[in-house]
Amino acid sequence: MANSASPDGAGAAGTHEEGAGRRDFLFLAGGAFGAFATGASLWPLLDSLNPARDTLAASTTEVDLAPIEQGQAITVKWRGSPVFIRRRTQKEIAEAKAVDPDDLPDPQTDEQRFGSGAREQWLVVVGVCTHLGCIPLGQKGTDNKGEYGGWFCPCHGSHYDISGRIRKGPAPRNLPVPPYTITAENKLIIGKEQPDGGQGGKTA
Ligand code: FES
Repeated sequence: MANSASPDGAGAAGTHEEGAGRRDFLFLAGGAFGAFATGASLWPLLDSLNPARDTLAASTTEVDLAPIEQGQAITVKWRGSPVFIRRRTQKEIAEAKAVDPDDLPDPQTDEQRFGSGAREQWLVVVGVCTHLGCIPLGQKGTDNKGEYGGWFCPCHGSHYDISGRIRKGPAPRNLPVPPYTITAENKLIIGKEQPDGGQGGKTA
């Protein structure tokens, strides 16, 4: 069973901010998601550990990528957790690729995380800080995105870059890349591995 979400607010993921379709931030929210729309908050770990029955049943979340413009970000819910989706600009991709993984606390290249070619523009990460579970800021255009232009977790000061990799602060790991597939119809299916069995952004 799949949740369905799209930037125009259609689908089970809930509503979005009025007029967001033309702004640099899109936010799909429902229920508890409103809690982090205005700032960082601790993601209810118990919720993650003991998801509701309907959450367990909804093993995938589908998102229509077509309306998302370069530089825009949306947040959807998958298996009880927020997932950040961002259509990155060429400048952001170049910045992410220019980083030497040996310089990182949790070494990963951008390509290992999100693939290459047409796929690399799509960043898909679980939006839960790997320190103690806060929801980092950075999805809104007006948010503090930290020193590396990605996301900033104000709980204890963790900075993530535009690949979602931890660059500074106490968080030990990068924001996780969930399994996902991008179909020929430009639909993102979170929770479904690429047909080749690869993780995250690996090319199909
Ligand atoms: S929970 Fe994010 S820095 Fe501590």
